[in-house]
Amino acid sequence: MKSLIDILDLTVEELDELIATAQDIIANPQKYAEACRGLKLASLFFEPSTRTRMSFEAAMYELGGNVISVTGAGTSSAAKGESVADTAKTVSCYTDIIAIRHPKEGAAYVTAKNATIPVINAGDGGHCHPTQTLADLLTIWREKGRFTNLTIGVCGDLKFGRTVHSLINAMSRYEGNKFVLISPEELKVPSYVKKDVLQQKHIPYVQTTDLMAVMPELDILYMTRVQRERFFNEEDYLRLKDSYILTVDKLKTAKPDLAILHPLPRVNEISVAVDDDPRACYFKQVLNGKYMRMALILKLLKEAGKLN
Ligand code: NCD
Repeated sequence: MKSLIDILDLTVEELDELIATAQDIIANPQKYAEACRGLKLASLFFEPSTRTRMSFEAAMYELGGNVISVTGAGTSSAAKGESVADTAKTVSCYTDIIAIRHPKEGAAYVTAKNATIPVINAGDGGHCHPTQTLADLLTIWREKGRFTNLTIGVCGDLKFGRTVHSLINAMSRYEGNKFVLISPEELKVPSYVKKDVLQQKHIPYVQTTDLMAVMPELDILYMTRVQRERFFNEEDYLRLKDSYILTVDKLKTAKPDLAILHPLPRVNEISVAVDDDPRACYFKQVLNGKYMRMALILKLLKEAGKLN
């Protein structure tokens, strides 16, 4: 694997390896503190980000490497009309690995095709977000100790929520999992995800609009934000934005060992009072993301022959 564009670019064995490396980093951070000395990460973020960009940058610094960044299309030559392909060729001259977030679906793929260094997709439009899935997987692993036989509820904007698409792809490769897809009618999982992943792999799933009806059966509840920036009109956003708000009260019927995940940022879909519930895992998920990105950077730089 030269680049990570889609979560399925990683085999199940490679995912296991990344999880093992991340856990070793957690246990022995000093062992990795100089691992990327002299190497540079290009952090190219053409869309807003707090966690993903900062966690890539923190990851590279904690590996002893350096970071050069572009934040916002307005400050780079993209604003002058430069193509993603030309940006990729240029950035390859200065750095050793690229993390790119872009509003267009497929932009990370085009970057990887044109770069001479490894490329990591940090989110391409409403398509996918594989490194968020790495954060999600380490969280599920640390909370549940398994990737199998889980009832996974995903709730909110399942249409535009790219993290959901990558998570469904990833968890569909393990035995015995079942998906409960909770969304308003207008924000259902795209049919390509249903057809090419769930149906093709014979994964059991149900679609519902009613979170409370399914709450008691869930092992994982993955909440998401309604993706305002991907709507064609504001009226639809305003009508749908408050479809699901998770409160302490609504968790009364949930399993005692439910794991509540959210890729963040949260708008109002999880009430702040839920943060004190031991089942809330979303800030642990943030930290797990940094460790998985460290493991991924190490793997890609090794495979590119830049590290031993
Ligand atoms: C997600 C994203 O960018 O898709 N955020 C993140 O990277 N943690 C989710 C979102 O923006 O709602």
